[in-house]
Amino acid sequence: MADKKTFYLTTPIFYPNAKLHLGHAYTTTISDILVRYHRLIGDKTYFLTGSDENTQKMVEAAVKEGKEPLKFLDEIVAKFASLFRELGISYDQFIRTTDQKQHWPGAQALWKKLVEADDIYKKAYEGLYCVGHEAFITEKDLVDGKCPDHGTAPEFIKEENYFFRLSKYAPEIKRRIESDELHVVPQSRKNEILSFIEREGLEDVSFSRPRKAEWPQGLGVPVPRDDSQVMYVWCDALANYITALGYGQDETLYKEFWPADVHVLGKDILRFHAAIWPGMLLSAGVPLPKSLLVHGFITSGGKKMSKTLGNVIDPEELLAEYGTDAVRYFLARHISPFEDGDITREGFKEAYNANLANGLGNMVARVMTLVEKNEVITLLIDSQGRSGLEQNIATAMAQFRINEAADYIWSEIQRIDRHITEEEPFKVVKTDPVMGKALIQHYVQDLYLISRALEPFMPETSKKIIEAIMANKKPENLFARKDQ
Ligand code: MSP
Repeated sequence: MADKKTFYLTTPIFYPNAKLHLGHAYTTTISDILVRYHRLIGDKTYFLTGSDENTQKMVEAAVKEGKEPLKFLDEIVAKFASLFRELGISYDQFIRTTDQKQHWPGAQALWKKLVEADDIYKKAYEGLYCVGHEAFITEKDLVDGKCPDHGTAPEFIKEENYFFRLSKYAPEIKRRIESDELHVVPQSRKNEILSFIEREGLEDVSFSRPRKAEWPQGLGVPVPRDDSQVMYVWCDALANYITALGYGQDETLYKEFWPADVHVLGKDILRFHAAIWPGMLLSAGVPLPKSLLVHGFITSGGKKMSKTLGNVIDPEELLAEYGTDAVRYFLARHISPFEDGDITREGFKEAYNANLANGLGNMVARVMTLVEKNEVITLLIDSQGRSGLEQNIATAMAQFRINEAADYIWSEIQRIDRHITEEEPFKVVKTDPVMGKALIQHYVQDLYLISRALEPFMPETSKKIIEAIMANKKPENLFARKDQ
């Protein structure tokens, strides 16, 4: 038998300076849907997520709460894990960049490769640093002296740092992106990064910082052979995608799963992933990931969801009110992975009532009531990827069109509903029981295919429907209507 195909997907690692909001939940949820889909079709998958901990913004948040930074980190990371559990995120590993066993040796091994390639040099540097971005920014990025994204004034920094010779790799990075060897999806983001490289080229990047006196031991990956310096946070953070697989240590997972099939990320961190990261890998002689899925922002009432604007929707709140699968459903189907997508509480409720309470929930109840009342014994056939529905979903998922894949499922739901209304099986069973039962059997078969297709999107619901079909019984109400 041929070896199983592997599928390695990563999410960005999240900054643990505050709780995650629905925007972060979006990245992780669509990632989980992609991984579950690949698992369902038989691929051997590996799913990585984690937290990006060696940051100034985390230290500042901890100090503000009067907490010791490493303790503060543990508390926030525990909250991330519990949110991911509630969202049904089936990750294989949660990497933390303060993990000195899993992360540091690989990050340092990668650094040494850059040194060997003569791509690290020391330079006195002065510039403006935005703590919100954890990056240097330029005067022209500022509005009224402040970073427009974070509303804070940057710090002026003058220090001696190690630099990474990113400029050297600009032509090769451009070539890999143009040729889709590094496939940036969607096309608009590919154009964006290519025209950025063309317009501005790629400058060398500051890749280390002097260790700050107020940082505790255990925070910040020491630069090999110079522990007065710690790695620039993006340098160590990007490395997580390979350190998690044991790069530079026990490389069993690394050999099996690298290069990644897809890094999922938001549009704000495109340059880090499509320029700096490929540059580091080229320098180190490590293969590049196959693709980047760059999604848009979740907005609320038309504005970017952000704490400053006060329009943050807490995923925990939605989860408590509607449950895991309803939240996953909304994020998967009502937001395009390629554009910004809006979510309001009213919009959420409307979609829930129309497509889950009615729509799916209603159709399942209709079909299974017919089965139960007429004592239909169901015979299920596994179509093994050959049905029209499965093929449509396969095409959509291969192009990361997650919302379209979900749309195919809902067209099937509508089709079954329409058939029941038109064919009136509840009448046919009375006049012609054989024919009536055959009709019902047909709906159940379709319902079975739907429930299988639903697994990546709504795993709990999928399981409940399959159990109901196996028991020839109507399930309890799947989605209660919300009236106010
Ligand atoms: N720590 C870096 C990533 C390092 S990856 C080596 C980071 N962290 S973050 O916590 O700020 O953001 C994590 C992800 O959440 C990013 O992909 C970002 O685009 C995404 N989102 C943050 N706000 C968002 C929305 N409002 N909507 C959708 N995604 C958003 O960046």
